[in-house]
Amino acid sequence: MNTDKDKPIQSSVSIFQKPSGPIVVSAEQIDVQKNDGAKQQFFGKLSLCGCGRSNNLPLCDGSHKNIAS
Ligand code: FES
Repeated sequence: MNTDKDKPIQSSVSIFQKPSGPIVVSAEQIDVQKNDGAKQQFFGKLSLCGCGRSNNLPLCDGSHKNIAS
């Protein structure tokens, strides 16, 4: 049974990418399913990986700081 249609619609979501890589998502509630299938819920703000090097995809773990420019 698909319960997604029972969830309330987000009123506002803000997304932008920092020049260093992370994609910052701001919303009242953010539901994330990680690559290992684990689900995690955030409230307010989180950073998604925009560089592809995180060991905690799709979340940023700071690994982008180790990329040589
Ligand atoms: S953007 Fe931070 S680890 Fe990829």
